[in-house]
Amino acid sequence: MTVLIVGGSGFLGTELVRQARAAGHSTVATYATKPGSASPTAWRHLDLRDAGNLDAVMSEVRPHLVINASSGSAHWPTTAEGPIRLAMAAAKYGTRIVHVSSDAIFSGSDLDYDESSLPDPVTPYGAAKAAAETGVLAVHPKAAVARTSLIIGHGRSVHEKVVHDLAAGTRDGVLFTDDIRCPVHVTDLAAALLELAAANATGIHHLAGPDAVSRHELGILIAERDGLDPSMLPAGLRAESALLGALDVRLDSRATQRSLHTTLRGARQFLRPGSARAGFSVTGTTTGPTSVTTVFDRVPLRVLPEPALSCFSCPRWSVISPSRADSRILFGNCCSRPPWPVSLIPSALARSTS
Ligand SMILES: NC(=O)c1ccc[n+]([C@@H]2O[C@H](COP(=O)([O-])OP(=O)(O)OC[C@H]3O[C@@H](n4cnc5c(N)ncnc54)[C@H](OP(=O)(O)O)[C@@H]3O)[C@@H](O)[C@H]2O)c1
Repeated sequence: MTVLIVGGSGFLGTELVRQARAAGHSTVATYATKPGSASPTAWRHLDLRDAGNLDAVMSEVRPHLVINASSGSAHWPTTAEGPIRLAMAAAKYGTRIVHVSSDAIFSGSDLDYDESSLPDPVTPYGAAKAAAETGVLAVHPKAAVARTSLIIGHGRSVHEKVVHDLAAGTRDGVLFTDDIRCPVHVTDLAAALLELAAANATGIHHLAGPDAVSRHELGILIAERDGLDPSMLPAGLRAESALLGALDVRLDSRATQRSLHTTLRGARQFLRPGSARAGFSVTGTTTGPTSVTTVFDRVPLRVLPEPALSCFSCPRWSVISPSRADSRILFGNCCSRPPWPVSLIPSALARSTS
């Protein structure tokens, strides 16, 4: 199956590209400003504001499935009109489409929001996302719309970076104790999106974690996982700030979860202390690893007959040397930007030679 990941250079898009490739799909990814690091992915420049550009990409790639993981913040032509234009193109080419939406379409006036809840956005971004999902379903009635919440994972989300900057004292600000969401791990979200696509799901689906946490609690969980000092994270009240937006929005994903094999873990589970930020564990002998498991349980790395592991973000094999005490991945034939901290690698691989 040929899969087109729109916004493949973004945070969620990068994980979608990785999982789609791992599942054996021919995967083409798009970027707006610069290609992502996943390689060798077939990259295409695509600006959803440009109908000609969109038609050229669709007619060339002829995907069986499009997943729209693009984001244009509150910019109406990108975030509201772009996805509708994409859904029209998908309908024209007979392509399935899964469109990623957001809990920002809700005001927070209700406590829980399930798939039957109607959008009542209170921000320009929420309004654009609400318009997009309504338009996508109008022009492509077999589309699937997947609403999600704060996306966390690999230490690379904006939310994790904010926590690291606050803990390091390199950024001013507070984490709100009254701003509640249901974060999801990017690995779970990408797997669930691909599963919805494989099941030919249509209509609206909620893909968020089951734990409702404040931004401050989320920050503490991230700090504890990453060995940072939680007391460095200042707390505040969003209600007392000038920021627009909903306070407490809890996506109820139970109905969609019941239809999925993928488990959408809660933040308290996937951020529990001791869980690695990213990486893998290796068991084996002095002749090489016999078993390799990523911390992302649905993405086992393949083990070759010779001692070798694959990189998370590129399909070329990275040979390790089990004879060396400091066995490590040789990045020469691999990507230069490993998506996990390099410092994790020697200790993880050391276990393969012990
Ligand atoms: N991150 C969250 O916590 C969160 C929460 C709820 C919902 N969501 C939704 O999840 C999806 C993915 O979010 P994300 O955080 O992964 O986004 P992201 O990292 O900001 O990536 C956005 C992607 O969209 C592309 N893009 C920007 N402008 C475009 C345009 N005019 N035409 C086509 N592509 C364009 C970007 O390309 P370049 O990088 O090349 O510019 C990039 O690939 C979005 O729909 C977002 O609304 C995210």
